[in-house]
Amino acid sequence: MKIAINRAQILAQIRANIVAIMSMIVALTGIAYNTWRNEKTEINHSVRIAAFETLRRDGKIGSYGVSNFDADDMEELRRVPGGSAATTNQVLYNLTRRGVEWDLLPWCREHGVPIMAYSPIDQARMLGSSELKKLAEKRGVTAAQLALAWLLHQDGVIAIPKAGRVDHLRENAAALTITLSKDDLAALDHAFPPPKKRKPLEML
Ligand SMILES: NC(=O)c1ccc[n+]([C@@H]2O[C@H](COP(=O)([O-])OP(=O)(O)OC[C@H]3O[C@@H](n4cnc5c(N)ncnc54)[C@H](OP(=O)(O)O)[C@@H]3O)[C@@H](O)[C@H]2O)c1
Repeated sequence: MKIAINRAQILAQIRANIVAIMSMIVALTGIAYNTWRNEKTEINHSVRIAAFETLRRDGKIGSYGVSNFDADDMEELRRVPGGSAATTNQVLYNLTRRGVEWDLLPWCREHGVPIMAYSPIDQARMLGSSELKKLAEKRGVTAAQLALAWLLHQDGVIAIPKAGRVDHLRENAAALTITLSKDDLAALDHAFPPPKKRKPLEML
């Protein structure tokens, strides 16, 4: 006897597959983000760590990280049992916003926590900079590629550019092959100076 499958059942199957695929992607990439500091509720690290550990044990995530944690937040987190399990800290970091270099980046390097730089081309705002364009032209690359190559050159830093267009995606991926010389780095430092004092963590 043949069983008829109706439209609702087909949609339910597809939705279940999508959920399964998404869970697999999260487990494989191993990151579940939690912008703790953006919440208005009281921060209770122990409760949150326990919840994320449950997800990890259940195989729902491979590992987890934090986001928008400044150096003092990282220090506070580390004092909580299990707090050193966070595998990365996702923060705003790019050529035009280098505040994290004052203390957060050194802290993360010392403790082996990679910084995941979000908005690495400052949501495309920096691409209008004449200095950046000039330096990129000199190197025969695009402004976005130079900005990304600079971030990738920083020890302990990974970058997550968002690209909705395929040509942008390809262009950004090619930044992985760019090597920067001492002169390139000095010129970029001159155009986009590192911080001279501590600033609270910027967020977008
Ligand atoms: N944790 C947090 O609090 C936080 C906050 C903000 C963002 N994020 C995350 O960070 C990631 C990226 O950040 P973002 O989207 O804010 O900024 P972004 O990656 O610096 O910039 C994205 C913008 O740049 C454009 N773009 C990308 N590549 C380009 C290229 N080669 N040439 C010209 N334009 C290019 C994109 O256009 P097209 O889309 O048209 O390609 C898009 O408009 C996202 O995954 C986001 O979720 C996290």
